[in-house]
Amino acid sequence: MTVTIVGSQLGDEGKGGIVDLYGDDVDVVARYQGGDNAGHTVVHEGEEYKLSLVPSGAIRGKVGVLGNGCVVNPRTLFDEIDTLQERGLDPDVRIAERAHVILPFHRVLDGIEEELKSETDDEVGTTGRGIGPTYEDKAGRRGVRVGDLLDPDVLRERLEYVVPQKRAVVEDVYDLDVDELDDPDAFDVDAIFEEFREFGRRFEAEDMTVNAGAFLSATIDEGQNVMLEGAQGTIIDIDHGNYPYVTSSNPTAGGAATGTGLSPGVVGDGEVIGIVKAYLTRVGSGPLPTELGGVVGDTPGYDEQGEGENEELANYIREEGGEYGTVTGRPRRVGWLDLPMLRHSTRVSGFTGIAINHLDVLAGLDEVKVGHTYTLDGEELASMPATTEQWKRCEANLKSFDGWPEIDWADAADEGYDALPENAKAYVEYIESELDTPAYAIGVGPGRGETIVREHPF
Ligand code: IMP
Repeated sequence: MTVTIVGSQLGDEGKGGIVDLYGDDVDVVARYQGGDNAGHTVVHEGEEYKLSLVPSGAIRGKVGVLGNGCVVNPRTLFDEIDTLQERGLDPDVRIAERAHVILPFHRVLDGIEEELKSETDDEVGTTGRGIGPTYEDKAGRRGVRVGDLLDPDVLRERLEYVVPQKRAVVEDVYDLDVDELDDPDAFDVDAIFEEFREFGRRFEAEDMTVNAGAFLSATIDEGQNVMLEGAQGTIIDIDHGNYPYVTSSNPTAGGAATGTGLSPGVVGDGEVIGIVKAYLTRVGSGPLPTELGGVVGDTPGYDEQGEGENEELANYIREEGGEYGTVTGRPRRVGWLDLPMLRHSTRVSGFTGIAINHLDVLAGLDEVKVGHTYTLDGEELASMPATTEQWKRCEANLKSFDGWPEIDWADAADEGYDALPENAKAYVEYIESELDTPAYAIGVGPGRGETIVREHPF
C-alpha cells in the first residue's frame, strides 16, 4: 500500500520527522515534486545529515526515488550523495527518467526575475534554486529531462534549442549582458553539454534512472510498502495555494499521482496524512491572516513593522521552534494556527489522518490562539477564498485556548497521549474535530522518539 505525506500549510511542518517515524515499515520512499528548494535534517545513529534532494529514507537503507514530478539539479544530488558516501553511507537513490533537470541558467533566471520583481516589492521570496524557471520550461515543452542526459545526441539537440532562447531573454527582455553575469557559462551550450553529459554517464554507470511509475507499481505489486513524500505545503501549491506566492509544483495529494506515475486510485486506496505544525510559519512573501510577526527587513515581503505588540511573541516562538530556513537560513515569519487554511488543505488532499507537530514549542504560553474562521466583507468564512487578493483582506476571528505547561516531553512520548497536559489535549481535539480527521501522531520534540504515536498507517 501507499502512505502519502502532505504539508498542510506553507512548508516546514516537519514532514521529514513523520516520514522517518513511519519509515521502518517502508520499503521505498518516493518524492513526487519540488527539487533542492526543500530541506530536511535527518538524525541517524547519532549523526546529523542536512539534505535537500536525497530522500531521508535513503539514509536508513531504503530505496529513495525522485519521481517524474521532481526537478533535479544533478550538481546538488551528486554533492549530497558524495558527502554521504564520504561519511560511510551508500544511499540507493533512483531518479525518474521523466523528471526535469535544473540547468545552470535556471538558477540565474530565478535570481534575475526576483531582482526585477523586488523593484516593485513583488518578489516571491524564492529559494533561488531555479525551481520556477525549470517548471516553466517543462510546461513550455523546451525542458531537458533526466533521460535526455543519457543520450548525447538528444541532449545536444535540446540544449541547442533552449540555450539561445534563454540568452535572448536575458539580453532582449532583461536588457543584461550575459558575458557580464557572474556565471556566463550558464548560457554556453558546450559548457552545459560537457558537464551534464558527465552527469548522464554517472547516472548510467550507477544504474540510477528508472521509469518511476513502472518501478513503483512493480514494488507495490510485490507487496512492498511505498511512502510518497511531498515537499513544501498546500498553501504554496501552484494550483491550490496563494498564487503567485507559490512554488511551481503540486505538493497536494493529486501531485502524488501525477508526480510518480502511480494512478490516483492507488494513491487514494492508501492513507494520506496531512502534516500540521501547531502554529504557522512562512519563509516567503504573501499574506498570512494570523500573522504575529516577521523579522523586519530580514524576511522577504516583510519590510514594514508588523503588529508591534505581537513581535515579542513571534520572536519567542521562532527561537523556541528554531524557525530558520533549512536551505536559506532565513528567519521565518510566525503566526497562529489557521483553521480556514487547514479546512482547505484537508478538502484538497482528502487527509485520512493528520500529524500535529511542535506542540511542545507552544508550552509555557499563558494563552494560545487559533484563527477559527475569517471575516471577509462582513461575511464569515470557514475556508480560504480562492484569490490571494481576497485572502489578504480576510480578518482572522481568533479563538483562545488556555496554555499548557512545559513537561518532560520525552516521557510523554513514551507514556502516550494521556500523558499530555489537559489543555494541550483540548487543543489537539479541537483540531481533530474541526477537520473531522484523527491525529495519528503528535510531535512533542525534535528527536525521532519525541512523538506520540496513536496510529501506524501501514
Ligand atoms: P521556490 O520553490 O524556490 O520557487 O520558492 C517559491 C516559494 O515557495 C517561496 O515563497 C519559498 O520561500 C517557498 N518555498 C520553497 N521551498 C520551500 C520549503 O521547503 N519550505 C517552505 N517554503 C518553501
